Formats: sequence, C-alpha cells, structure tokens
Amino acid sequence: MSETAVEAAVHSAPLKRDDIPGWFFSLDRAAFSHLLSAQTAAGVTGDILELGSYLGRSAVLLGDHLQPGERLTVCDLFDSEAGDADNAAEMNMSYRKTLTRSAFEANYLAFHGELPEIVQAPTSVLADGRVRADSCRFVHVDASHLYEHVAGDIAVARAALGENGVVALDDYRSEHTPGVSAAVWEAVFTGGLRPVLLTPMKFYGTWGDAAAAQAVLRKRDWPAEGYTVDEDTIAGARVMRLNYQVKGPIQRSTSRRLALELLPPVATKATRRMLRTLRERRAAPPLPRA
Ligand SMILES: C[S@@+](CC[C@H](N)C(=O)[O-])C[C@H]1O[C@@H](n2cnc3c(N)ncnc32)[C@H](O)[C@@H]1O
Repeated sequence: MSETAVEAAVHSAPLKRDDIPGWFFSLDRAAFSHLLSAQTAAGVTGDILELGSYLGRSAVLLGDHLQPGERLTVCDLFDSEAGDADNAAEMNMSYRKTLTRSAFEANYLAFHGELPEIVQAPTSVLADGRVRADSCRFVHVDASHLYEHVAGDIAVARAALGENGVVALDDYRSEHTPGVSAAVWEAVFTGGLRPVLLTPMKFYGTWGDAAAAQAVLRKRDWPAEGYTVDEDTIAGARVMRLNYQVKGPIQRSTSRRLALELLPPVATKATRRMLRTLRERRAAPPLPRA
C-alpha cells in the first residue's frame, strides 16, 4: 500500500481486519491465534499486554482472544511526544503522519464492543509495576526499535508474564533494527529467555517450558496451510522456525506467454516492468517500514 493509500485507510472505517494498516502478517496472525487458542483450550487464563499498537492491527486480534475476566492493555505513544531524540526520529520517520489515538480507538471499536486499557506513554512507564507481576499469559513487544527501550520492554514482559506465558518480540532480525536483535539475544543468553519459535518477523519465547509451547505448535499441520516448519538447535536449545512456502515457477497463461513472445522487445520490457511492479505492490508491506 502506498503512503497515500495508508492515509486514506486511516480515515475510513475498516471493514475487515486486513484493512487496518500495520505490519502484522498472516503467518504471525496464525501463530498468535494458535498459541492463544491453545492456552484457552488448556484452561490457562491471564491478561494480554501489547507494547506498540500503531493503528490496532495486532491489538484487534489480541482482543479476539480475551476470555471473560481477562484484560488487554496496550501501551503506545500515539500522538504524544517521544521521550528522547532517537525515539522521536523513529516516530517522525514511520508513524507521525498516520498515527493518532482516536484512529486506533475507531479501528479497535470496529471489531470489539469496548476499548482495551490504553496507556498513552513511553513503554518505559510500565516498569513502575502498574502491570501486576505474573498477571499475563501473552505479551507482544512491538514498540521502539532502540536497544535500551527494547531491553526495558523485555524486562517488563518478563515481570508481567505468568508461568509458561509467551512473549512475541517483533523485528528481531530486520536489517534496520540491530538494537532489537541485540536486546533479544541478550535476553536469551543472559536473561533466561528460552526461544520457542522464529518467524521472519517475530521471535517467540518463554521463561517457562519452551518444549511444551513447541509441542502445542507441532500439533498443527502448518505445511498443509502453505507454511514451512524447520527446527534448529541454538546453544543446546531447540527452536522451531515457521515461514511461508516459496511458490513454484509461475504458470503463465497462454495469452500472456504469447503477448510476451510476440510483442516487440521494447513493449515486452515495458510489460514485464509493469507486471513486476504490480507483483511487488501486491507483496509489499503496507507502509515503508515499521
Ligand atoms: C511497528 S508499530 C506497531 C505495529 C502494530 N503492533 C501492528 O501490528 O500493526 C510501533 C508502534 O510503537 C509505538 N512506539 C514507538 N516508540 C514507543 C515508545 N517508546 N513507547 C511507546 N510506544 C512507542 C509507535 O507509536 C508505533 O505505534
């Protein structure tokens, strides 16, 4: 989606969850839903916490999984100022043009009867203990990408999660977010965080029983749904990897093949360029980058 399309989407009510701009894609949607539904089926209860909600794309799904008595808390700066210059630069580059708290609220209320608990502030405020220790079953960390902030967010997640709770950490391997990678692997090697699952976008871990969480994931036939499943060992710890299956060579329709073969080279080049642009647009994430 182009930036103009995102701005248009921000100002119109979403009809489906996919209409909400953001960076929460089908593979992680499936992983979140699977893990949260399995917790519910196993009788595990607890609140859900999200650090970094943007316009609500992931928060709406988290809200789908709330059971009676459970609470979703989201923490985001929305239209507030960031607390430091680096964070302000991130906000200006990626979110300022499109993000308001009222847009988040409108999107959330398009799918749920009531708003979650909203903390409009830097995620660092959560270190004051306002989220009860051991009260959560799932925490999604997807706010600032700066090392110091993410390390703090992981500490908040650790304190908030109950036994065997799961944390999902976004952007642990993107080229533009080395601070997230540093904080995530530091938590693994020095903070007792156990890897459960890696996707292209997110690291899933627990301070509890990683093998039990992996057994839950193995129950699903991911390949039948178009995903690949692999397993690795990192410093003695098993970790699963989920990814999208790579599609085979494109089967061209006869008319398309004839057009490409018969058109003069200049026209063919232009046609190829146009088709490539269309393909990339379809595959591109909705905003320049998270
Ligand atoms: C990548 S977006 C979140 C995307 C969202 N989870 C989704 O799936 O679409 C990151 C969000 O973190 C927020 N953010 C950035 N730095 C923050 C900070 N220090 N404290 C709180 N929120 C922050 C931004 O306002 C932005 O909404």
